[in-house]
Amino acid sequence: MKLNNVITIDGPVASGKTTVGKKLAEMLDLQFLDTGVMYRAVALAVVEAGIDPHNEERVSEKAENIQIEIFSPSQDDGRQYDVFVDGKDATWKLREDVVRDNVSLVSTYQRVRRALTQKQREIGERGKIVMVGRDIGTVVLPDAAYKFFLVASVEERARRRYLEDKASGKKVDLADIQHSLEERDKVDSSRKLAPLKPAEDAVVISTDHKTVDEVVEEILSFIKE
Ligand code: DC
Repeated sequence: MKLNNVITIDGPVASGKTTVGKKLAEMLDLQFLDTGVMYRAVALAVVEAGIDPHNEERVSEKAENIQIEIFSPSQDDGRQYDVFVDGKDATWKLREDVVRDNVSLVSTYQRVRRALTQKQREIGERGKIVMVGRDIGTVVLPDAAYKFFLVASVEERARRRYLEDKASGKKVDLADIQHSLEERDKVDSSRKLAPLKPAEDAVVISTDHKTVDEVVEEILSFIKE
């Protein structure tokens, strides 16, 4: 049975899914969940516990026992939401380079994916939600009524991430950002389990040279149809 009030948005790093998805959710009065935050939370917890990210067994145990809570933003410091990992505010830590550099690896592990997919499905199946990630339309919520897959050139995506990081006060280098983005895309697209790819019934939208509002409008026009 189709999940009528569920919208999935998947796509590579910095394709615009989070910004677009959040805006769409606000306009349609739906809940919003960025599933990337959950994988980042596992990577952060692993690093903070001094666990080697290559140690699949220990990383998996961490993912199975982690507590991740996502709330509306409590502070006006540019954050889109508050994320608490095991009871502590980890919102900005999730954007740190050490998380970025380890998150794709921990996302390849079967038990990590199983634990997080289960949580995401429980939330998604309650309905009234926009959920964004890499495998939401293909694996997490294949019965969603509306599926979108956002793409953009690697140069534009690197530029976006550069501007975002710069605005949040991070020391940034465009070439380094582009390199890490390409590496992450490679791991995310080539992994065996739930690789990054559009669902067969997803609408693929290029966000190159488009504003957030333009992409949101494009998505809305498909939904209205
Ligand atoms: O969207 P993001 O950059 O915050 O995601 C971080 C990583 O999490 C991404 O490189 C791969 C992983 N991820 C995933 O495997 N499946 C998802 N549904 C969401 C994210």
